[in-house]
Amino acid sequence: MSLCSTSAFRYPANPFTDYELCAYEVLLKAREVLSFVATDAVQEACKPLELSDDNLRTIMDRMEKSYQKGLSKEGAPTAAVKMLPSFVRSVPNGSENGNFLALDLGGTNFRVLLIRIDNTECEMTSKIFRVPESIMRGSGTKLFDHIAECLAKFIEEHDLVNKEKLPLGFTFSFPCQQYGLTCAKLVNWTKGFKCSGVEGNDVVQMLREACHRRGDIDIDVVAVLNDTTGTMMACAFKENSCNIGVICGTGSNACYMERLDRIPKIEGECNPAEDGLPAEMCVNTEWGGFGDDGALSEFFTEFDKILDEATINKGHQLFEKMVSGMYLGEIVRIILEHLAREGHLFGGDVDAIAQRGCFPTKFLSEIEGVYRFHPTFPAALDKKIDELLDENIEFQLMLSEDGSGRGAALVAAVATRMKQESAAHQLKMQNLKI
Ligand code: GLC
Repeated sequence: MSLCSTSAFRYPANPFTDYELCAYEVLLKAREVLSFVATDAVQEACKPLELSDDNLRTIMDRMEKSYQKGLSKEGAPTAAVKMLPSFVRSVPNGSENGNFLALDLGGTNFRVLLIRIDNTECEMTSKIFRVPESIMRGSGTKLFDHIAECLAKFIEEHDLVNKEKLPLGFTFSFPCQQYGLTCAKLVNWTKGFKCSGVEGNDVVQMLREACHRRGDIDIDVVAVLNDTTGTMMACAFKENSCNIGVICGTGSNACYMERLDRIPKIEGECNPAEDGLPAEMCVNTEWGGFGDDGALSEFFTEFDKILDEATINKGHQLFEKMVSGMYLGEIVRIILEHLAREGHLFGGDVDAIAQRGCFPTKFLSEIEGVYRFHPTFPAALDKKIDELLDENIEFQLMLSEDGSGRGAALVAAVATRMKQESAAHQLKMQNLKI
Protein backbone atom coordinates (compact mmCIF):
# COMPACT_ATOMS: atom_id res chain seq x y z
CA MET A 1 0.00 0.00 0.00
CA SER A 2 1.34 3.37 -0.90
CA LEU A 3 -0.24 6.02 1.26
CA CYS A 4 1.28 8.90 -0.65
CA SER A 5 -0.35 7.97 -3.92
CA THR A 6 -2.93 10.63 -4.71
CA SER A 7 -5.27 8.00 -6.11
CA ALA A 8 -5.66 6.72 -2.55
CA PHE A 9 -7.86 9.74 -1.87
CA ARG A 10 -11.42 9.82 -3.00
CA TYR A 11 -14.16 12.35 -2.69
CA PRO A 12 -16.57 10.78 -0.22
CA ALA A 13 -20.18 10.31 -1.18
CA ASN A 14 -21.54 11.36 2.20
CA PRO A 15 -21.85 14.98 3.26
CA PHE A 16 -19.44 15.92 6.06
CA THR A 17 -20.05 17.75 9.29
CA ASP A 18 -18.59 21.29 9.39
CA TYR A 19 -15.70 20.01 11.42
CA GLU A 20 -14.96 17.27 8.92
CA LEU A 21 -15.32 19.69 6.05
CA CYS A 22 -12.69 21.85 7.63
CA ALA A 23 -10.37 18.84 8.00
CA TYR A 24 -11.16 17.85 4.42
CA GLU A 25 -10.10 21.27 3.23
CA VAL A 26 -6.87 20.74 5.11
CA LEU A 27 -6.45 17.51 3.19
CA LEU A 28 -7.03 19.20 -0.16
CA LYS A 29 -4.56 21.86 0.76
CA ALA A 30 -2.10 19.17 1.84
CA ARG A 31 -2.44 17.39 -1.50
CA GLU A 32 -1.88 20.60 -3.37
CA VAL A 33 1.21 21.46 -1.41
CA LEU A 34 2.52 17.90 -1.42
CA SER A 35 2.26 17.43 -5.14
CA PHE A 36 4.23 20.59 -5.93
CA VAL A 37 6.68 21.02 -3.16
CA ALA A 38 7.59 18.00 -1.19
CA THR A 39 7.42 14.87 -3.29
CA ASP A 40 10.84 13.64 -2.18
CA ALA A 41 10.14 14.33 1.47
CA VAL A 42 6.80 12.54 1.20
CA GLN A 43 8.38 9.55 -0.51
CA GLU A 44 10.99 9.44 2.20
CA ALA A 45 8.47 9.65 5.03
CA CYS A 46 6.34 6.90 3.51
CA LYS A 47 9.21 4.51 2.77
CA PRO A 48 8.82 2.52 5.99
CA LEU A 49 5.22 1.80 4.92
CA GLU A 50 6.28 0.15 1.68
CA LEU A 51 6.60 -3.62 1.72
CA SER A 52 8.60 -5.53 -0.87
CA ASP A 53 7.45 -8.96 -2.03
CA ASP A 54 10.23 -10.44 0.12
CA ASN A 55 8.88 -8.57 3.14
CA LEU A 56 5.40 -9.87 2.35
CA ARG A 57 6.70 -13.43 2.09
CA THR A 58 8.40 -13.06 5.46
CA ILE A 59 5.11 -11.83 6.92
CA MET A 60 3.20 -14.73 5.30
CA ASP A 61 5.65 -17.17 6.77
CA ARG A 62 5.36 -15.70 10.25
CA MET A 63 1.60 -15.59 9.98
CA GLU A 64 1.54 -19.27 9.11
CA LYS A 65 3.72 -20.01 12.17
CA SER A 66 1.36 -17.95 14.32
CA TYR A 67 -1.57 -19.98 12.96
CA GLN A 68 0.18 -23.25 13.86
CA LYS A 69 0.86 -22.02 17.38
CA GLY A 70 -2.77 -20.95 17.83
CA LEU A 71 -4.04 -24.35 16.64
CA SER A 72 -1.67 -26.39 18.82
CA LYS A 73 -2.46 -27.63 22.32
CA GLU A 74 0.66 -26.27 24.02
CA GLY A 75 0.90 -22.99 22.11
CA ALA A 76 -2.75 -21.91 22.13
CA PRO A 77 -2.94 -20.38 25.64
CA THR A 78 -0.26 -17.78 24.84
CA ALA A 79 -0.77 -17.44 21.06
CA ALA A 80 -1.08 -13.94 19.57
CA VAL A 81 -3.31 -15.31 16.79
CA LYS A 82 -6.00 -17.14 18.71
CA MET A 83 -7.41 -19.48 16.02
CA LEU A 84 -10.80 -19.80 17.69
CA PRO A 85 -12.98 -22.83 16.85
CA SER A 86 -16.43 -21.74 15.66
CA PHE A 87 -18.23 -25.10 15.87
CA VAL A 88 -19.59 -24.39 12.37
CA ARG A 89 -18.99 -27.69 10.62
CA SER A 90 -20.40 -27.07 7.18
CA VAL A 91 -21.14 -24.32 4.67
CA PRO A 92 -24.71 -24.12 3.30
CA ASN A 93 -25.61 -26.87 0.84
CA GLY A 94 -28.68 -25.24 -0.69
CA SER A 95 -31.24 -27.26 1.24
CA GLU A 96 -31.67 -24.75 4.08
CA ASN A 97 -34.94 -22.91 4.52
CA GLY A 98 -37.15 -21.09 6.99
CA ASN A 99 -37.53 -17.69 8.68
CA PHE A 100 -34.81 -16.47 11.00
CA LEU A 101 -33.96 -13.52 13.20
CA ALA A 102 -30.41 -12.22 13.19
CA LEU A 103 -28.52 -9.76 15.39
CA ASP A 104 -25.33 -8.14 14.22
CA LEU A 105 -23.04 -6.32 16.66
CA GLY A 106 -19.50 -5.45 15.72
CA GLY A 107 -19.02 -1.74 15.25
CA THR A 108 -20.71 1.55 15.98
CA ASN A 109 -23.98 0.22 14.57
CA PHE A 110 -26.10 -2.65 15.68
CA ARG A 111 -28.61 -4.34 13.37
CA VAL A 112 -31.61 -6.56 13.71
CA LEU A 113 -32.66 -8.58 10.69
CA LEU A 114 -35.53 -10.78 9.65
CA ILE A 115 -34.45 -13.23 6.97
CA ARG A 116 -36.36 -15.70 4.87
CA ILE A 117 -34.24 -18.46 3.35
CA ASP A 118 -35.76 -20.60 0.67
CA ASN A 119 -33.14 -23.05 -0.63
CA THR A 120 -31.13 -20.80 -2.92
CA GLU A 121 -33.09 -17.57 -2.32
CA CYS A 122 -32.57 -15.23 0.60
CA GLU A 123 -34.80 -12.22 1.37
CA MET A 124 -34.31 -9.83 4.24
CA THR A 125 -35.50 -6.74 6.04
CA SER A 126 -33.35 -5.03 8.61
CA LYS A 127 -33.10 -2.04 10.89
CA ILE A 128 -29.96 -0.25 12.03
CA PHE A 129 -29.62 1.13 15.55
CA ARG A 130 -26.71 3.26 16.70
CA VAL A 131 -24.57 2.17 19.62
CA PRO A 132 -23.66 5.42 21.35
CA GLU A 133 -20.13 5.78 22.71
CA SER A 134 -21.48 5.90 26.27
CA ILE A 135 -22.80 2.37 25.73
CA MET A 136 -19.64 1.13 23.94
CA ARG A 137 -17.62 2.04 27.05
CA GLY A 138 -20.29 1.61 29.75
CA SER A 139 -21.45 -1.49 31.59
CA GLY A 140 -22.06 -4.81 29.85
CA THR A 141 -25.54 -5.02 31.36
CA LYS A 142 -26.44 -1.70 29.72
CA LEU A 143 -25.07 -2.88 26.38
CA PHE A 144 -27.20 -6.04 26.41
CA ASP A 145 -30.25 -4.11 27.69
CA HIS A 146 -29.80 -1.82 24.68
CA ILE A 147 -29.58 -4.81 22.32
CA ALA A 148 -32.69 -6.39 23.87
CA GLU A 149 -34.56 -3.08 23.59
CA CYS A 150 -33.71 -2.74 19.87
CA LEU A 151 -34.76 -6.36 19.31
CA ALA A 152 -38.07 -5.81 21.15
CA LYS A 153 -38.81 -2.72 18.98
CA PHE A 154 -38.03 -4.68 15.82
CA ILE A 155 -40.21 -7.62 16.86
CA GLU A 156 -43.09 -5.25 17.52
CA GLU A 157 -42.65 -3.30 14.29
CA HIS A 158 -42.61 -6.52 12.27
CA ASP A 159 -45.67 -7.93 13.94
CA LEU A 160 -43.80 -10.89 15.42
CA VAL A 161 -45.12 -10.53 18.99
CA ASN A 162 -46.76 -13.70 20.32
CA LYS A 163 -46.02 -15.53 17.08
CA GLU A 164 -43.97 -18.68 16.64
CA LYS A 165 -40.50 -18.18 18.18
CA LEU A 166 -37.99 -17.78 15.33
CA PRO A 167 -34.51 -19.29 15.53
CA LEU A 168 -31.97 -16.50 16.07
CA GLY A 169 -28.38 -16.19 14.83
CA PHE A 170 -26.20 -13.71 16.74
CA THR A 171 -23.19 -12.21 14.94
CA PHE A 172 -20.92 -10.92 17.69
CA SER A 173 -17.76 -9.69 15.98
CA PHE A 174 -15.23 -9.85 18.76
CA PRO A 175 -12.86 -12.66 19.79
CA CYS A 176 -14.83 -15.35 21.61
CA GLN A 177 -13.85 -18.71 22.99
CA GLN A 178 -16.70 -20.94 21.89
CA TYR A 179 -17.90 -23.99 23.76
CA GLY A 180 -20.41 -25.09 21.16
CA LEU A 181 -22.62 -23.22 18.71
CA THR A 182 -24.54 -21.34 21.40
CA CYS A 183 -21.93 -20.55 24.03
CA ALA A 184 -19.30 -17.87 23.38
CA LYS A 185 -17.17 -16.30 26.08
CA LEU A 186 -15.65 -12.95 25.13
CA VAL A 187 -11.85 -13.14 25.33
CA ASN A 188 -11.22 -9.40 25.08
CA TRP A 189 -12.86 -6.37 23.52
CA THR A 190 -11.44 -4.85 20.32
CA LYS A 191 -12.32 -1.92 18.00
CA GLY A 192 -12.85 0.69 20.73
CA PHE A 193 -15.41 -1.27 22.79
CA LYS A 194 -14.76 -1.57 26.53
CA CYS A 195 -17.95 -2.56 28.34
CA SER A 196 -17.32 -3.76 31.86
CA GLY A 197 -18.30 -7.24 33.04
CA VAL A 198 -18.39 -8.95 29.65
CA GLU A 199 -14.84 -10.29 29.18
CA GLY A 200 -14.79 -13.93 30.32
CA ASN A 201 -18.59 -14.20 30.17
CA ASP A 202 -20.93 -15.94 27.76
CA VAL A 203 -22.50 -13.29 25.52
CA VAL A 204 -25.43 -15.54 24.58
CA GLN A 205 -26.28 -15.94 28.25
CA MET A 206 -25.99 -12.16 28.77
CA LEU A 207 -28.36 -11.62 25.85
CA ARG A 208 -30.88 -14.13 27.22
CA GLU A 209 -30.72 -12.50 30.66
CA ALA A 210 -31.33 -9.05 29.16
CA CYS A 211 -34.42 -10.41 27.39
CA HIS A 212 -35.64 -11.99 30.66
CA ARG A 213 -35.17 -8.68 32.48
CA ARG A 214 -37.53 -7.05 29.98
CA GLY A 215 -39.99 -9.89 30.18
CA ASP A 216 -41.68 -9.05 26.87
CA ILE A 217 -39.51 -11.06 24.47
CA ASP A 218 -38.50 -14.67 24.38
CA ILE A 219 -35.67 -15.75 22.10
CA ASP A 220 -34.25 -18.97 20.72
CA VAL A 221 -30.53 -18.46 20.03
CA VAL A 222 -29.38 -21.32 17.83
CA ALA A 223 -25.98 -19.94 16.83
CA VAL A 224 -23.47 -17.29 17.82
CA LEU A 225 -20.78 -16.43 15.30
CA ASN A 226 -18.08 -14.03 14.23
CA ASP A 227 -18.63 -11.74 11.20
CA THR A 228 -15.88 -13.56 9.28
CA THR A 229 -17.86 -16.80 9.59
CA GLY A 230 -21.03 -14.99 8.52
CA THR A 231 -19.22 -13.56 5.51
CA MET A 232 -17.87 -16.94 4.44
CA MET A 233 -21.32 -18.51 4.85
CA ALA A 234 -23.01 -15.74 2.84
CA CYS A 235 -20.58 -16.28 -0.05
CA ALA A 236 -20.76 -20.07 0.22
CA PHE A 237 -24.52 -19.75 -0.11
CA LYS A 238 -23.95 -18.40 -3.64
CA GLU A 239 -20.81 -20.37 -4.43
CA ASN A 240 -20.48 -23.58 -2.44
CA SER A 241 -16.71 -23.86 -2.94
CA CYS A 242 -16.08 -20.69 -0.88
CA ASN A 243 -14.08 -21.75 2.19
CA ILE A 244 -12.45 -18.54 3.43
CA GLY A 245 -13.99 -15.36 4.83
CA VAL A 246 -12.07 -12.09 5.18
CA ILE A 247 -13.17 -8.78 6.69
CA CYS A 248 -11.44 -5.58 5.60
CA GLY A 249 -13.63 -3.06 7.38
CA THR A 250 -13.62 -1.27 10.73
CA GLY A 251 -11.54 -4.20 11.94
CA SER A 252 -9.73 -6.90 10.02
CA ASN A 253 -10.00 -10.64 10.43
CA ALA A 254 -10.29 -13.96 8.56
CA CYS A 255 -11.74 -17.43 8.99
CA TYR A 256 -11.44 -20.63 6.98
CA MET A 257 -12.61 -24.24 6.95
CA GLU A 258 -9.96 -26.43 8.58
CA ARG A 259 -9.70 -30.21 8.86
CA LEU A 260 -10.41 -31.39 12.43
CA ASP A 261 -7.19 -33.40 12.51
CA ARG A 262 -5.27 -30.16 12.00
CA ILE A 263 -6.78 -28.52 15.10
CA PRO A 264 -4.96 -30.46 17.83
CA LYS A 265 -6.24 -28.20 20.61
CA ILE A 266 -9.79 -29.54 20.23
CA GLU A 267 -8.77 -33.16 19.77
CA GLY A 268 -11.53 -35.47 20.96
CA GLU A 269 -14.16 -32.70 21.25
CA CYS A 270 -15.85 -33.55 17.95
CA ASN A 271 -16.35 -37.02 16.65
CA PRO A 272 -17.55 -37.12 13.03
CA ALA A 273 -18.10 -40.89 13.23
CA GLU A 274 -20.57 -40.29 16.04
CA ASP A 275 -22.21 -37.03 15.04
CA GLY A 276 -22.29 -37.77 11.31
CA LEU A 277 -21.07 -34.24 10.48
CA PRO A 278 -18.16 -33.35 8.16
CA ALA A 279 -14.66 -33.77 9.65
CA GLU A 280 -13.92 -30.05 9.43
CA MET A 281 -14.64 -26.83 11.27
CA CYS A 282 -14.55 -23.13 10.52
CA VAL A 283 -11.70 -21.50 12.47
CA ASN A 284 -11.86 -17.79 13.32
CA THR A 285 -8.19 -16.78 13.13
CA GLU A 286 -8.50 -13.37 14.89
CA TRP A 287 -5.51 -12.29 12.80
CA GLY A 288 -5.97 -8.74 14.10
CA GLY A 289 -3.79 -9.83 17.02
CA PHE A 290 -0.98 -10.99 14.71
CA GLY A 291 2.24 -9.27 15.82
CA ASP A 292 1.20 -8.78 19.45
CA ASP A 293 4.09 -11.14 20.34
CA GLY A 294 6.64 -9.09 18.36
CA ALA A 295 6.28 -11.06 15.08
CA LEU A 296 5.87 -7.79 13.13
CA SER A 297 8.37 -5.68 15.05
CA GLU A 298 10.55 -4.58 12.12
CA PHE A 299 7.46 -3.59 10.10
CA PHE A 300 5.84 -1.66 12.91
CA THR A 301 6.76 1.92 12.03
CA GLU A 302 7.17 4.98 14.24
CA PHE A 303 3.75 6.09 12.95
CA ASP A 304 2.19 2.81 14.06
CA LYS A 305 3.77 3.26 17.50
CA ILE A 306 2.30 6.75 17.91
CA LEU A 307 -1.12 5.43 16.88
CA ASP A 308 -0.96 2.44 19.24
CA GLU A 309 0.13 4.61 22.22
CA ALA A 310 -3.16 6.52 22.14
CA THR A 311 -5.52 3.52 21.88
CA ILE A 312 -7.44 1.97 24.76
CA ASN A 313 -5.89 -1.45 24.06
CA LYS A 314 -2.25 -0.46 23.69
CA GLY A 315 0.03 -3.30 22.54
CA HIS A 316 -2.92 -5.37 21.31
CA GLN A 317 -4.41 -5.94 17.85
CA LEU A 318 -1.24 -4.58 16.24
CA PHE A 319 -1.84 -6.05 12.76
CA GLU A 320 -5.40 -4.71 12.80
CA LYS A 321 -4.13 -1.26 13.78
CA MET A 322 -1.74 -1.30 10.80
CA VAL A 323 -4.38 -2.08 8.18
CA SER A 324 -8.00 -1.64 9.17
CA GLY A 325 -10.59 1.06 8.57
CA MET A 326 -10.83 2.18 12.16
CA TYR A 327 -7.18 3.28 12.15
CA LEU A 328 -6.16 4.15 8.56
CA GLY A 329 -7.31 7.78 8.76
CA GLU A 330 -5.41 8.34 11.97
CA ILE A 331 -2.23 6.87 10.47
CA VAL A 332 -2.47 9.30 7.55
CA ARG A 333 -3.06 12.16 9.99
CA ILE A 334 0.04 11.17 12.00
CA ILE A 335 2.10 11.14 8.79
CA LEU A 336 0.75 14.56 7.72
CA GLU A 337 1.54 15.92 11.17
CA HIS A 338 5.07 14.55 10.88
CA LEU A 339 5.47 16.24 7.47
CA ALA A 340 4.18 19.52 8.89
CA ARG A 341 6.61 19.31 11.80
CA GLU A 342 9.45 18.71 9.37
CA GLY A 343 8.41 21.88 7.56
CA HIS A 344 7.19 20.15 4.36
CA LEU A 345 3.56 20.99 4.91
CA PHE A 346 1.53 24.06 5.93
CA GLY A 347 4.73 26.07 6.28
CA GLY A 348 5.52 24.03 9.38
CA ASP A 349 2.26 24.95 11.13
CA VAL A 350 1.06 21.73 12.75
CA ASP A 351 -2.09 23.05 14.44
CA ALA A 352 -4.38 22.25 11.52
CA ILE A 353 -3.59 18.55 11.63
CA ALA A 354 -2.39 17.97 15.18
CA GLN A 355 -5.69 16.99 16.71
CA ARG A 356 -6.10 13.24 17.20
CA GLY A 357 -8.96 11.77 15.18
CA CYS A 358 -9.49 14.89 13.04
CA PHE A 359 -8.83 12.95 9.86
CA PRO A 360 -11.44 10.19 9.50
CA THR A 361 -10.83 7.13 7.37
CA LYS A 362 -13.71 8.11 5.11
CA PHE A 363 -11.31 10.55 3.43
CA LEU A 364 -9.62 7.41 2.11
CA SER A 365 -12.59 5.09 1.74
CA GLU A 366 -15.97 4.51 3.33
CA ILE A 367 -15.08 3.10 6.71
CA GLU A 368 -17.49 0.18 6.65
CA GLY A 369 -16.02 -1.30 3.52
CA VAL A 370 -12.39 -0.82 2.69
CA TYR A 371 -12.65 -3.58 0.09
CA ARG A 372 -15.94 -2.37 -1.32
CA PHE A 373 -15.32 1.37 -1.45
CA HIS A 374 -11.60 2.00 -1.65
CA PRO A 375 -10.88 2.89 -5.29
CA THR A 376 -7.78 0.76 -5.78
CA PHE A 377 -7.83 -1.80 -2.96
CA PRO A 378 -9.67 -4.72 -4.69
CA ALA A 379 -7.52 -4.70 -7.81
CA ALA A 380 -4.31 -4.30 -5.81
CA LEU A 381 -5.30 -7.17 -3.51
CA ASP A 382 -6.15 -9.48 -6.38
CA LYS A 383 -2.87 -8.73 -8.15
CA LYS A 384 -0.76 -9.18 -5.05
CA ILE A 385 -2.36 -12.50 -4.06
CA ASP A 386 -1.77 -13.73 -7.59
CA GLU A 387 1.90 -12.74 -7.41
CA LEU A 388 2.53 -14.28 -4.00
CA LEU A 389 0.51 -17.47 -4.17
CA ASP A 390 1.84 -20.83 -5.30
CA GLU A 391 0.98 -20.96 -9.00
CA ASN A 392 -0.81 -24.29 -8.61
CA ILE A 393 -3.40 -22.74 -6.33
CA GLU A 394 -6.33 -21.03 -7.98
CA PHE A 395 -8.39 -18.47 -6.14
CA GLN A 396 -11.25 -16.11 -6.76
CA LEU A 397 -12.23 -13.14 -4.62
CA MET A 398 -15.94 -12.59 -4.07
CA LEU A 399 -17.51 -9.53 -2.49
CA SER A 400 -19.83 -10.55 0.28
CA GLU A 401 -23.07 -8.59 0.26
CA ASP A 402 -24.05 -7.98 3.84
CA GLY A 403 -22.28 -11.08 5.10
CA SER A 404 -22.54 -10.58 8.82
CA GLY A 405 -26.33 -10.20 8.83
CA ARG A 406 -27.24 -12.73 6.16
CA GLY A 407 -24.49 -15.05 7.45
CA ALA A 408 -26.03 -15.14 10.95
CA ALA A 409 -29.30 -16.43 9.50
CA LEU A 410 -27.42 -18.91 7.32
CA VAL A 411 -25.47 -20.29 10.27
CA ALA A 412 -28.77 -20.56 12.16
CA ALA A 413 -30.24 -22.38 9.15
CA VAL A 414 -27.27 -24.72 8.77
CA ALA A 415 -27.32 -25.39 12.53
CA THR A 416 -31.01 -26.30 12.32
CA ARG A 417 -30.37 -28.58 9.33
CA MET A 418 -27.35 -30.23 10.98
CA LYS A 419 -29.25 -30.82 14.21
CA GLN A 420 -31.85 -32.71 12.18
CA GLU A 421 -29.17 -34.61 10.22
CA SER A 422 -27.26 -35.48 13.37
CA ALA A 423 -30.42 -36.72 15.11
CA ALA A 424 -31.24 -38.87 12.06
CA HIS A 425 -27.67 -40.23 12.04
CA GLN A 426 -27.80 -41.10 15.73
CA LEU A 427 -31.13 -42.83 15.32
CA LYS A 428 -29.65 -44.86 12.47
CA MET A 429 -26.64 -45.82 14.62
CA GLN A 430 -28.92 -46.88 17.48
CA ASN A 431 -31.00 -49.01 15.15
CA LEU A 432 -27.83 -50.62 13.81
CA LYS A 433 -26.72 -51.46 17.37
CA ILE A 434 -30.09 -53.04 18.09
C1 GLC B 1 -11.93 -7.33 15.16
C2 GLC B 1 -12.59 -8.43 16.00
C3 GLC B 1 -12.93 -9.62 15.14
C4 GLC B 1 -13.76 -9.18 13.94
C5 GLC B 1 -13.02 -8.08 13.18
C6 GLC B 1 -13.82 -7.55 11.98
O1 GLC B 1 -10.71 -7.80 14.71
O2 GLC B 1 -11.72 -8.80 17.05
O3 GLC B 1 -13.63 -10.58 15.88
O4 GLC B 1 -13.98 -10.27 13.10
O5 GLC B 1 -12.76 -6.99 14.05
O6 GLC B 1 -15.04 -7.01 12.36
